[in-house]
Amino acid sequence: MSVNPSTHLLVVPSGPLEIPDLQSLATSPDASGVYFSLVIPTYNESQNISTIVEKLSHLLDGSIPGNYELIVVDDNSPDRTWEVALSLTEKYPQLRVMRREQERGLSTAVIRGWQAARGEILGVIDGDLQHPPETLLQLLAEIQRGADLAAASRHVAEGGVSDWSIVRRFLSRGAQTIGLIILPGVVGRVSDPMSGYFMVRRSCIAGKTMNPAGYKILIEVIGRGNPRWIGEVGYVFQERQTGESKVTWKQYVEYLRHLLRLRFDTWPVGKFLRFGIVGFSGVFVNMAVLYVMREVFNLELTRSLIVAAELAIISNFLWNDLWTFGDISQQQPGKRQRFKRLLKFNTICLMGLILNVLLVNLMFNVLGINEYLANLIAIAAVTLWNFWINLKLSWRVTEVDR
Ligand code: GDD
Ligand code: MN
Repeated sequence: MSVNPSTHLLVVPSGPLEIPDLQSLATSPDASGVYFSLVIPTYNESQNISTIVEKLSHLLDGSIPGNYELIVVDDNSPDRTWEVALSLTEKYPQLRVMRREQERGLSTAVIRGWQAARGEILGVIDGDLQHPPETLLQLLAEIQRGADLAAASRHVAEGGVSDWSIVRRFLSRGAQTIGLIILPGVVGRVSDPMSGYFMVRRSCIAGKTMNPAGYKILIEVIGRGNPRWIGEVGYVFQERQTGESKVTWKQYVEYLRHLLRLRFDTWPVGKFLRFGIVGFSGVFVNMAVLYVMREVFNLELTRSLIVAAELAIISNFLWNDLWTFGDISQQQPGKRQRFKRLLKFNTICLMGLILNVLLVNLMFNVLGINEYLANLIAIAAVTLWNFWINLKLSWRVTEVDR
């Protein structure tokens, strides 16, 4: 963590938003490690910063004395919060201050703070005293129990918000619902995905380039870090004493953009392409078997079609189990597991066949779309259906304990 000797401000990291791992930290000039680094992002918090630094220091001196650091990351606040924070470093030697003049934004402030941090555990707390500092000890206890990420939540027992307006509650819950639709595997892993009060093991996110947007840093950490065990602690979101919230409608637009980007970035594009290639090879298997059934065995048409479709499904399963989802099926070895996957795959593909027939009929008979174009559209839609449901059901990575 390099400090500018003339200003005693932390040098602001630049370049990709990537957190270094502990090994690369060990080689840095001032390698004196700490256990816990807590970033406090601030914008116009000059009225609050002394109180929160004093409360946090008192609390952490009582539990992990000398083994933590506080990092204020201020975005060049007009009320010169960074200057007030700097004046506190004399009294609180574990306090570090970063003044960002180029970049702005809550979530990048947190990442830049974590890039300059030395701790094994990286945390974030609002700088306006709306996150009760005492919850930190329960979050640390979750981490010490083995959690990779511990999040403070307003939506579990002992959680809540002070007197938020109905509109604010509606907006927060609405944003969460949209998140559950677009990114269920991330937003669904915590009860309060909007929370900006949590801590995570550095090893979870080290080496991963983060690409957050707006306010919601927690979904970025879960989406890219994929922590195995997530612990949650209830807290009551407090009323602001001074200053005001910087949340505007812009943060909600940023949040949507962020969800869509994470969706695409975390979508298994490689697996989907392989799935498509396997599906395409299935067409040849289907046609070849149909030919043999009709011309060699002289079987009547419907039976030939069923045999051809079934053998194509089995061929697709074998390739997918070996190639497309090989990394997952290797974790679920054994004939019984494989047969279970084949049954699920078969059922999903047969449902896909029915869906295909329904879609083509709907498009051809109701919408008047050309039957061949309708079939192509239906094949594309059914391929997406087959891929997604198989990924979620047949080759599901068994959930690890939360
Ligand atoms: N460095 C920096 N840059 N800090 C910022 C910025 C910024 O652009 N914008 C806000 N902050 C700081 C504020 O100074 C405060 O410490 C904290 O981030 C939260 O900002 P608020 O404006 O107070 O947000 P809120 O009260 O509406 O809280 C909501 O967002 C928080 C951040 O995600 C709630 O959802 C909280 O749960 C959440 O923690
Ligand atoms: Mn606030």
